[in-house]
Amino acid sequence: MDLEFRASDPFAGPVGLLALPLFSDAEGLTGPLQELDRRVNGALNRARTSGDIRGKDGDTLTFYLSAEGGPSRVTVVGCGSLADADGETFRKLGGRAVREAEKLFVTDVAVAIPGLIPSDPPGQGGTGDLREEERMVNRVGPDRVVQATDEGLALAGWDFRELITQADDPSHDDEDRPPLVTGARIHATPVKGNGTSHGDGDVEGLAEAVRVGRALAAGQNLARDLQSRPGNVATPTHLAEVALQLAEEHGFGSRILGPEEMEEEEMGALLSVARGSDQEPRLIVLEHRGGGGDQPPLALVGKGLTFDSGGISLKPAKGMESMKYDMSGGAAVLGAMKAIGLLGLPVNVVGVVPSSENLINGSANKPGDVIRTRAGKTVEIINTDAEGRLILADALSYTRDHYGPSAMVDCATLTGACVVALGHHAAALLGSDEGLQDELREAGELAGERCWPLPLWKPYRKQLKSQVADLKNVGGRPAGAITAGWFLSEFAGDTPWAHLDVAGTAYGDTELPYRRDGAFGFPTRLLVEWVRSRVG
Ligand code: BES
Ligand code: MN
Ligand code: ZN
Repeated sequence: MDLEFRASDPFAGPVGLLALPLFSDAEGLTGPLQELDRRVNGALNRARTSGDIRGKDGDTLTFYLSAEGGPSRVTVVGCGSLADADGETFRKLGGRAVREAEKLFVTDVAVAIPGLIPSDPPGQGGTGDLREEERMVNRVGPDRVVQATDEGLALAGWDFRELITQADDPSHDDEDRPPLVTGARIHATPVKGNGTSHGDGDVEGLAEAVRVGRALAAGQNLARDLQSRPGNVATPTHLAEVALQLAEEHGFGSRILGPEEMEEEEMGALLSVARGSDQEPRLIVLEHRGGGGDQPPLALVGKGLTFDSGGISLKPAKGMESMKYDMSGGAAVLGAMKAIGLLGLPVNVVGVVPSSENLINGSANKPGDVIRTRAGKTVEIINTDAEGRLILADALSYTRDHYGPSAMVDCATLTGACVVALGHHAAALLGSDEGLQDELREAGELAGERCWPLPLWKPYRKQLKSQVADLKNVGGRPAGAITAGWFLSEFAGDTPWAHLDVAGTAYGDTELPYRRDGAFGFPTRLLVEWVRSRVG
């Protein structure tokens, strides 16, 4: 999708569909809404007074304009209460603009947001008496409003269609699959007739916010593509190829380890999982060198399990196809690296993705087997379906030893227990460092990808005690997300480390207008916002 930003009149240029936000607590019509009402001879005001549109979150009402050279359609999008508006409000606004366009088979959209910039040149002062609805920037800030709208547009415009060949089949009901929106622009409009410098966004700053939103969405959409590709396409070698392509595009350093290099590194845990499959494993490493040569990097580590059958501890058949998404953590790390590369963030970041299948053959792990991890600790495999923590254990110790990161964050579709604990609205957050966890919570809040802490208290550790090895790979039913976190913490050592369990949030059915059912790309935005917060 082409995305641009303009500080100009949204009614001035042609566009298939122009979306305008309407807040439920707005008193009267101002700015572009007032202009729309004028052009439709008061029809918008009548729709409001009759209660047909109140500005409730999710309301939409579309008008057709007759004037040549301007928008053909204008959709008023309900955004809920302005007092409660946050970044997510504007992500949804962008998303609804695109969904409405799709419904009407329109492929170019614009969104106008008033009150972001001063209506008079700076210094000429003004009355400062903007009405509430014009000051929608107050809570979130103009840059965040524009960035979030941009994310909403670019994320909503994504779909996974690369494996569909029959889209043009005349017998196909094409109502199901409208053309994708290819162009979008955001208009920041001054509020007319109100000499004021209230919006403190400057046009250059807002253009930069557009660039940030676009990069976040591009990274997240890459993650969604990788997630959506099935197990027979997105193999460990495929993920490695995509990573090498990213390295080329963004100037990252890269290392790809295959089975031989893993033997040299004594990655007995990752290798034990990979031996159950004909697909060769890969350990993928990307190095973004945006900081000084001696600055220890931030490390992002993502589980890249390209298909999880459970192994000998086989999963039930029902729903097993969704285990192609078991590489979602790895996909988010690659997506985050792409965004970081696009933004050229001035910080060192290393992205690490251990990638394997978890299948069944004559060499597969068996319950009761004891394997030796890269860190030297031995693990008794109680359940071969707890494979994510095994491949992550070796990736964490590798990252620590080779990169000495100042902080290490892993993300993984690690446990069903996480889904039981937090459902689909927050990732579980566990770790060794309170400050780091606070940073991640804050980043998740900003990004609209929430995480919430679970306690990594000492008594839970006992559940991993083994008779025959240093630890077991499962700790029984109680607190499964926590014992999985404890397992990982054994391999993070004293590096400030945090773990995001994204089993309930990385994919699924969605209620959000800027996503579709399937791959969400979660937590790409969270990871990038966290890295951005470390830049300052
Ligand atoms: N990939 C699964 C976790 C998962 C479950 C992700 C549901 C997404 C949705 C992981 O490898 C797994 O199988 N975990 C087991 C661990 C258990 C055997 C201790 C689980 O959660 O059942
Ligand atoms: Mn599993
Ligand atoms: Zn798994």
